[in-house]
Amino acid sequence: MRFDAITLFPQMFETLSQFGVTRRAHERGLWQLRTWNPRDFTLDVHRTVDDRPFGGGPGMVLMAEPLACAVEAARADACDPGALPSVAPPWVICLSAAGRPLTDARVKQLAGEATRGRGLILVCGRYEGIDQRFIDALVDEEVSIGDFVLSGGEIAAMSLIDAVVRQLPGALKEESVRDESFGNGRLDAPQFTRPESWRGRSVPPVLLSGDHARIEQWRRDHSLERTRRVRPDLLQDDAQDNAEMHLPHEA
Ligand code: ADE
Repeated sequence: MRFDAITLFPQMFETLSQFGVTRRAHERGLWQLRTWNPRDFTLDVHRTVDDRPFGGGPGMVLMAEPLACAVEAARADACDPGALPSVAPPWVICLSAAGRPLTDARVKQLAGEATRGRGLILVCGRYEGIDQRFIDALVDEEVSIGDFVLSGGEIAAMSLIDAVVRQLPGALKEESVRDESFGNGRLDAPQFTRPESWRGRSVPPVLLSGDHARIEQWRRDHSLERTRRVRPDLLQDDAQDNAEMHLPHEA
């Protein structure tokens, strides 16, 4: 899969190919990233990418033209002239606190599109925002990673890349993808590892029993209990959960 990031801070993205699951997937050739700095598409001596907002107000706004030139360059570079006509051009996502919240379902759709050859261009804002005319003209979708404000879109774009890459076939063991939180619309059950007793706290005995059916049931029950307690919104449309709930109040 190909990602292109439009960013004033390209070095921030280097960590993705240096650590963990994304590093291994990168080494296996499952994904590549190119960065495009809007500053390289300016024509003035100061390489200006921002200006004061019309109408007044604090801070600076990213200008449309350098961003548009960067997206157009990324798009031209990503569109292989030999590619089949059925492969759609890259999808342009702008990371913004004003975007639609990113969900597990959307991440999976994007990974699915990627396996069919479609790349993603990720536009990272900075300062007080981006000239709306650029968004209207060139952006397909605005995405937020949560109801809080980051200093820029880079960390949000990196989060999106991480989430999409781990869904690509071959990035993780099958069962790791299937069992993780949200994979089934619920949060993960708690996990434990050695030692069996740590600072006076012991591991729930069922997990040491070797009885796989009981362990599975314990995990289902605790996944449901945690989801009810922490994220009841995830269960709203889930008619099944009452039927499944028989949480033993064991240790
Ligand atoms: N840029 C600033 N805040 C953001 C957020 N919450 N999500 C995505 N991009 C952002």
